[in-house]
Amino acid sequence: MRWSQVWFLIAGVVIVLGTGKVPEADAMKLGVAGPLTGDQGAFGQEIKNGTLIAVEEWNAKGGLLGKKIEIVWGDDQHDPKQAVAVANKFVNEGVVGVIGHFNSSCSIPASTIYHDGKVIQITPASTNPQFTERGLWNVFRACGRDDQQGSVAAAFIVKKLRKSRVAVLHDKTTYGQGLADETVKALERTKVKPVYYGGITQGDKDYRPVLTAVKQKNPEVLFYGGIHPEAILLTKQMRELGMKAAFVSGDGVWQKEYIEIAGKAAEGAFVTFTPDQMKIKEAHGVIRRHKEKFGSDVGAYTVYSYVAANILLDAIAATKSTEGTKIADHIRKTKWNTALGTIQFDKKGDVLVSPYVVWEVRDGKFVELP
Ligand code: ALA
Repeated sequence: MRWSQVWFLIAGVVIVLGTGKVPEADAMKLGVAGPLTGDQGAFGQEIKNGTLIAVEEWNAKGGLLGKKIEIVWGDDQHDPKQAVAVANKFVNEGVVGVIGHFNSSCSIPASTIYHDGKVIQITPASTNPQFTERGLWNVFRACGRDDQQGSVAAAFIVKKLRKSRVAVLHDKTTYGQGLADETVKALERTKVKPVYYGGITQGDKDYRPVLTAVKQKNPEVLFYGGIHPEAILLTKQMRELGMKAAFVSGDGVWQKEYIEIAGKAAEGAFVTFTPDQMKIKEAHGVIRRHKEKFGSDVGAYTVYSYVAANILLDAIAATKSTEGTKIADHIRKTKWNTALGTIQFDKKGDVLVSPYVVWEVRDGKFVELP
């Protein structure tokens, strides 16, 4: 062995021992944020898996503007304060853009930080109208909005179920209360006034006191604005109390864990979400890759996260720029061919088309209703 080879070997050992890997000072950093752990971790996992697949594909094709893409993870634990801390960290680290967050209560406060840092944010999942209604140039969402979702829920209750005694509960978050209020607004347009309206506290374990008060109003439907961990308890406990009312909720409950944990009590529950992604042929590739890589089916927001990451990375590649305003202009003026079909954004950063449909839990599965 020559001396030069010996030095090369020593240098390699020093790098490996010192940092655990060869440093990538020059990587393109992509921020990915959501409730990566904790009780909403199943949704965080969807964002994680979707963006991972996208970034792996880009890196396999040679990366972005000649650099490798590196994901910087931000676990906000669905806590708005954590989300702001994550956002500040991302801006300080110089991420080229952010995919996230999941919860509207996190995406909205974080978006102000990204705005000030001139960083593009595409949420795959935050549906509260206020995310895009505040005139920020840097925000986009790949999903729909709760004014649309709430109208679909209300129409389903009144026209399909033909029920008028509706109790409404929410989790007091931006999303949960927002969706409950949009549903109430739409119900009231058809002259249906809720027989009960109230909030619960996230993380509580016993909702029987509030459910007992709800039960006294004799509702035919309980509409819940919130996420699956609390929906699981509400569904189980309302059945324990002998309540027969139909349980209706939104995208935050379109989660396999809801059915797995609520079990029999979840049968017959209704949830609004977008139509079956299996029927979108452009989605088949990523759905298959997910199965190969993770051994499971995609969740509600996996493909949305994959699509959001691809739009952002594509826009950076096309503009050959990491300048926020240039990327935002390009995202706004482009017709995107994505794994969810064609997507176009309006001035505010909302998608032009976002259909909502109703799903029912039948035999332990979500089934899309015609
Ligand atoms: N759509 C839910 C939210 O906006 C996840 O928080």
